[in-house]
Amino acid sequence: MSRLSDLVIDHYDTGAMLDRIRAGLAEAGTDPDRPKPEDLKPVDEFHTGGLEATEALLGPLGITSDMRVLDIGCGIGGTARFVASRYGANVTGIDLTPAFVHIAEELSAMCGLGDRTQFSVASVFDLPVADGSADLVTMFHVGMNIDDKPALFREVARVLPPGGRFALFDIMELSGAPVDFPVPWASAPEASFLAPPQAYRDAASAAGLVPVFERDRTAYAVAFFERVTAAMDEHGPPPVGLQLIMGPTAQARYGNAVRAAFDGKTGPWEMVFGKG
Ligand SMILES: C[S@@+](CC[C@H](N)C(=O)[O-])C[C@H]1O[C@@H](n2cnc3c(N)ncnc32)[C@H](O)[C@@H]1O
Repeated sequence: MSRLSDLVIDHYDTGAMLDRIRAGLAEAGTDPDRPKPEDLKPVDEFHTGGLEATEALLGPLGITSDMRVLDIGCGIGGTARFVASRYGANVTGIDLTPAFVHIAEELSAMCGLGDRTQFSVASVFDLPVADGSADLVTMFHVGMNIDDKPALFREVARVLPPGGRFALFDIMELSGAPVDFPVPWASAPEASFLAPPQAYRDAASAAGLVPVFERDRTAYAVAFFERVTAAMDEHGPPPVGLQLIMGPTAQARYGNAVRAAFDGKTGPWEMVFGKG
C-alpha cells in the first residue's frame, strides 16, 4: 500500500459511519433496516450536486439493463445503486477505502439491490476486471485523489471494449490558486491532485480514448452550493446528509470546498470519452 493510499483511506474512513447513517435514517422516519435506494441519496452520492449531478451525467448515456457498468472510486455505492435501480444494469463498484466498500455492500443488501451490485476493495490503477469487460466506466469526484492521471486513463482504456465509454465528473483546478484544507476529498495537500481539464484531455488522448462530450459545471456548482448553504443556515444539516460520512470535520471540509468554488479556484466538469 502506497503512502498516498494510506492518506486517502485515513481521510475517508471517519469511523462508525454505518451507525451514523442508520441513526440518521431513523431520525428521518425511515426504517434503518430497509431503506429504499432513494432514502440514501442525500448521503450516498458523495459529489457536488448529489443525485441531480448523477442523473445529469448518466441520463443522456442511454444505459440499458444488459450493459456491464463499472463505477471506480464508488464510495458507499450510491451511484452503483442508482444505475442498478434506474436502468436494471449490473454494476460493479470498486474503491480504495475498505470501510466504504463494506458499507456499500451492507446498504445494497438492505435496499434489496445486493444481486445487481457488487463491490470490492481495489485501486483505479489496478482494476480487478478483465480486458474489455466494462461497457461503461463511471467515476464521480475521484480524480482529485489521483496523482497519475495518465495511468488512470490507461487502466480504464484497458477494461473498455471498442465502443465502450468512460464518463467522469471531477472537480478541476481552474485558477491554479491553492485551496484551503481540509476539503471533502483530502485532509491536506499531500493527498490532493487537482488538475485542469486539459490534463484530463491529454491523459485520455495518450490512452487512446477520444472525447465524446464535455461540460463545465462550475456555474451549476456555485448555484447548488448557494442553495445548500441557505438551507443549512435556516434548518441546520438534514438528518441524512454527507456530514454522516465526512465526520467531525464535515463543516470545515464543506466550507473550504464551497469557498474554493465561490473564489473561482475549482469547479466540477463532466467529461465523456470513448474507445474507438
Ligand atoms: C469524494 S469520494 C466519491 C465517492 C463516490 N464516487 C461518490 O460520488 O459518491 C472519492 C472516493 O474515491 C476513492 N478513491 C480515491 N483514490 C482512489 C484510488 N486510487 N482507487 C480507488 N478509489 C479511490 C475514495 O476512497 C473515495 O471513496
